[in-house]
Amino acid sequence: MKTLIVTASIMGEQGCSTHLAGRVKHHLINHGVNPLFTERDLVKDNLPHLTAPEFSSWWQEGADKELLPSQCDSDALLEELQAHDLIVLAIPTYNFGMPSQFKAWFDRILRPGISFRYTSGRPEGLLSNKPVLVLITRGGLLSDTAPDHQTSYITTLLAFIGLTDIRFIYAGGLNMGDKVKTRALAEADSQIAGYVRRIAGRDSHD
Ligand SMILES: Cc1cc2nc3c(=O)[nH]c(=O)nc-3n(C[C@H](O)[C@H](O)[C@H](O)COP(=O)(O)O)c2cc1C
Repeated sequence: MKTLIVTASIMGEQGCSTHLAGRVKHHLINHGVNPLFTERDLVKDNLPHLTAPEFSSWWQEGADKELLPSQCDSDALLEELQAHDLIVLAIPTYNFGMPSQFKAWFDRILRPGISFRYTSGRPEGLLSNKPVLVLITRGGLLSDTAPDHQTSYITTLLAFIGLTDIRFIYAGGLNMGDKVKTRALAEADSQIAGYVRRIAGRDSHD
């Protein structure tokens, strides 16, 4: 099972979202599905905001990609997404939303004519559907409250390009003391274990 793990914690390896992404790896390895991992850390990549020249280059035949930093290659990011069987997005909550590095990544994978198009005025996702596990970490408790903008936003972004098999796992209250944090991470870990069991079982029957 080829798994793409995308992380974006400014805390790097110390980040709780990075930790939970590591637990996905742990459970996949333990499950013996011979997993292959690609890990993309958008903070290490220093993924910049999309610019007009980069956006225009998507429509220019033979545009000179050498002029762009290599991590900005939208074609390569989309190929990477397509080449994996399971996508894991480990997304910290920063100011009620996703880190701007993640937004910069989404800005490069929602590509008109490539990952979506409009047919009879309706949007159609063009990527082949595959399971996406979204791990959300939060300092507070936002699940099922109005300020949880992430769940519906991320669902919309993924569904727009054809990825509708989405599971969210949340670890909230991470800045509410050690006891709450330890329990939240343990609960998320147990949900990850269950998800991996289901996905790995599905894979072995294919
Ligand atoms: C710049 C910044 C903004 C944050 N904004 C929020 C927020 O709006 N809501 C919240 O619940 N936690 C917020 N937090 C807390 C983080 O969500 C929490 O520390 C979480 O563990 C981040 O994931 P990470 O450990 O993988 O980086 C914020 C943290 C930072 C650094």
